[in-house]
Amino acid sequence: MGRPRSGPARGNDLAVIILAAGEGTRMKSDRPKVLMPLAGTPLLGHVLAAAKGLDPAVMAVVVGHQAAAVEGAARSLAQEAGFRAPPRFVLQERPLGTGDAAARALKSVDGCSRAVVLYGDVPLLKPETLRNLVTVQREEKAALVLLTGYRPDPRGYGRIVRDAKGEVLRIVEESEASGKERAIREINAGVYCFEMAPVREIFKKKLGAKGKGEIFLTDVLEALRARRRRVLAVEAADPAEIMGVDSRLGLARAESVLNARRLERLMLSGVSVADPASTFVDPAVTVGRETRLEPSTILRGATRVGERCVVGPFSALESAEIEDDCWVVSSRLSSCRVLKGSRIGPFSHVRPGSVIGPEASVGNFTEVKASRLAQGVKANHLSYLGDAEVGAGVNVGAGVITCNFDGKRKHKTVIEEGAFIGSNVNLVAPVRVGAWALVGAGSTVTKDVPPGAVAIARSRQKNIERRRPLGENGADHVRA
Ligand code: UD1
Repeated sequence: MGRPRSGPARGNDLAVIILAAGEGTRMKSDRPKVLMPLAGTPLLGHVLAAAKGLDPAVMAVVVGHQAAAVEGAARSLAQEAGFRAPPRFVLQERPLGTGDAAARALKSVDGCSRAVVLYGDVPLLKPETLRNLVTVQREEKAALVLLTGYRPDPRGYGRIVRDAKGEVLRIVEESEASGKERAIREINAGVYCFEMAPVREIFKKKLGAKGKGEIFLTDVLEALRARRRRVLAVEAADPAEIMGVDSRLGLARAESVLNARRLERLMLSGVSVADPASTFVDPAVTVGRETRLEPSTILRGATRVGERCVVGPFSALESAEIEDDCWVVSSRLSSCRVLKGSRIGPFSHVRPGSVIGPEASVGNFTEVKASRLAQGVKANHLSYLGDAEVGAGVNVGAGVITCNFDGKRKHKTVIEEGAFIGSNVNLVAPVRVGAWALVGAGSTVTKDVPPGAVAIARSRQKNIERRRPLGENGADHVRA
């Protein structure tokens, strides 16, 4: 636990406080809720990234459940988000509610005159929404501004109770709400910007505990109003932004919101997405203009797709690099490179360490592992190419297998440029087929083939004379 330092580190008078001490029992996980991954990053990482947009002077994170794990993660996530100094950590030993957590944190940010409180389980906030909240608080000289929004299903959220003139009166938690209040669809996002002094005063006098003995931060609002202080609500433009994630259902919904945002960005940059509902892209993925993503396409990790490509339908790419003008259909590719103008699929599996092309094609039911297929190589049917180096223009016939594993070690197959490998050939590695050589169909090649040679390594066909001639209708052998 870092010792709280006093005074803001910078000229800005704003502190950000992130509440991350809760357990999150509804996740049914050994991990604390704020560390559950969303689009590959813990929920808390998303909140820290949004907070960075405020450029606060000080940031405090309240930890409690699995404090050491949350603190460790928060340190590295803050660094990833671009914070130069690590957050200050405040320990809340028992989960006595959001009010108790915030009150503790306020003590560690005493050099600031204003604070923004964020919950570690509200991950979809946009930095511009937070900046707007802070601007409204300053310009309107409000004691507190909170973020609200309308959710079609408000269950689980605090509801915003307004008077006839539309003024916010209070927030009522679901557990405390009457039937009428539960019908309210405007909810509390759990994001507040307030002046420190009056809120500190309220915490000094102590807010009453409710429900299971928790102090609700939301009760600060009513207490400020009772002191005739100005309280305002700002409505989030995008209701998806204010989603709180407290179960795996919420995680899935949040994933789909983030995915939709990324697809929208891609479409606005000139990528066609045939079916956004079945297309998934990770945050680091890039796709070039005029590329078309067909339905059921999944682009993971650091996948990069060039311009004028077609990817999908039914393709999954994991950290694959696809250059311009390629075509990848119904295939799985991982940690590999496909160079300009190449065609993959349908039903191909290109595994790590492979480089294919330019203008090569890997087709139906062909698997390629740690192999280099040079310009114009064709391996279109039912092959396995592992640890192979295949030169330019090589034709790999249907059913060619590189036998690369002797049970202990992997060995290399080299096929030099222009060679023709007939169908159903086994190349028993280590082995080299020279340039422009031809290997007859059905051969099992165990020795190097010199350049330009014809290799046939199969038993000769025997045609055996029958003692009894075939009947007139030619069907005698069936009866025999
Ligand atoms: C809270 C709000 C609710 C709002 C919703 C938005 C209160 C009382 N209620 O409800 O009005 O609509 O968020 O998502 O604030 N935490 C602590 N210490 C605690 C309790 C919670 O640090 O003692 C942290 C949790 O780790 C979590 C956040 O505060 O990151 C929210 O806590 P949670 O219990 O999930 O609040 P909600 O019931 O969702």
